[in-house]
Amino acid sequence: MAILVTGGAGYIGSHTVVMLLEAGYDVVVLDNLCNSHSEVFNRVETITSKRPAFVEGDIRDAACLKRLFDNYPIESVIHFAGLKAVGESSQSPLEYYQNNVHGSVVLCQAMAVAGVKKLVFSSSATVYGEDAPVPYVETMPRGKTSNPYGTSKAMVEQILTDLCASDAGWSVALLRYFNPIGAHSSGLIGEDPQGIPNNLMPFISQVAVGKRERLSIFGNDYDTDDGTCVRDYLHVMDLADGHLKSLECLQQPGTHIYNLGTGQGLSVLAMVNSFVNVTGVTVPYEFAPRRDGDLPAFWANACKANNELGWQTQFSLEDMMRDTWNWQSNNPEGYK
Ligand code: NAD
Ligand code: WQD
Repeated sequence: MAILVTGGAGYIGSHTVVMLLEAGYDVVVLDNLCNSHSEVFNRVETITSKRPAFVEGDIRDAACLKRLFDNYPIESVIHFAGLKAVGESSQSPLEYYQNNVHGSVVLCQAMAVAGVKKLVFSSSATVYGEDAPVPYVETMPRGKTSNPYGTSKAMVEQILTDLCASDAGWSVALLRYFNPIGAHSSGLIGEDPQGIPNNLMPFISQVAVGKRERLSIFGNDYDTDDGTCVRDYLHVMDLADGHLKSLECLQQPGTHIYNLGTGQGLSVLAMVNSFVNVTGVTVPYEFAPRRDGDLPAFWANACKANNELGWQTQFSLEDMMRDTWNWQSNNPEGYK
């Protein structure tokens, strides 16, 4: 039996594929490569001495999914595929709902036809919304999301919850990621954003490698210790491990919601200082106005994943910085 990994050529997907292969799973990746590169599979093979089966295709393509489920003995699906740029989602909401929401529905329909009813879904801390108290805990309701990307994640969570309620054959893990950073310790795979990075760590590492002049820190007048925003950053390999652990909870029917974060919040300035301390490379920065839609501070209560999945983060902040830099400095142009 095999695991289907949609979006398995992407940042989190590729790290999860490495862990799945190393744990002995057969893996089939479905990816349309709209935000990734097939070179990643050569790198995965160098790390693991194995290569996942790769189907280049789209989760919205029902015929492609039917062929895939006919051709491979899929047991469970880990569903990463989707669009993730928050700002872009406000400019192109239809594209985001079409890819993230409609795509997830088409995938589940194909799974139902194939009799595959175990799914792990990439959700996000953003579903707690704008007004939730910190730390976020899974017993809180989903809140008011501030952009179509976040709304698309909340909508898919609801759709999957309704699906499980309609048919006890389904089991679904809704994994709410906090802020994944870092890269595999080999430096062979990592985050490869197209164009100007939206997220903090890729921006810091591109400044460090000389691709960008300086970091703009969005806001230094927040009500936090140093005035900059606070987030819960976790190593992408810890996040990948959370997916392997969550496969086990799929033995129980219904929806299973888990926060995947360290439980610790760190400010933007603390992240910049840590990167400089660990790598010895300077990162020029300036303070800039607040970014629309940013929340001042949030981090996870991760006790549920700790207790029920036996999942604990293993990597330190220093590891995250070292591995980010190892990837960036060895691959200044990403996979190109
Ligand atoms: P990514 O863009 O690197 O990976 C997504 C992959 O999905 C890419 O390889 C892309 O080519 C593929 N894809 C997109 N649309 C597709 C489609 N219609 N059919 C087939 N393949 C498609 O992103 P990532 O950072 O690895 O994120 C993976 C998932 O985790 C996404 O669903 C994202 O929303 C979610 N997530 C990410 C973060 C984060 O900070 N990176 C945080 C919370 C949730
Ligand atoms: C972190 C902090 C910025 C860039 C987003 C999505 C979330 C999830 C993860 C995906 C913030 C500051 C950033 C820069 C900066 N996405 N920053 N200068 O906003 O917590 O979360 O990515 O699925 O849904 O909203 O992450 O990395 O963009 O920002 O000062 O150039 O760094 O203001 O405080 P965020 P981020």
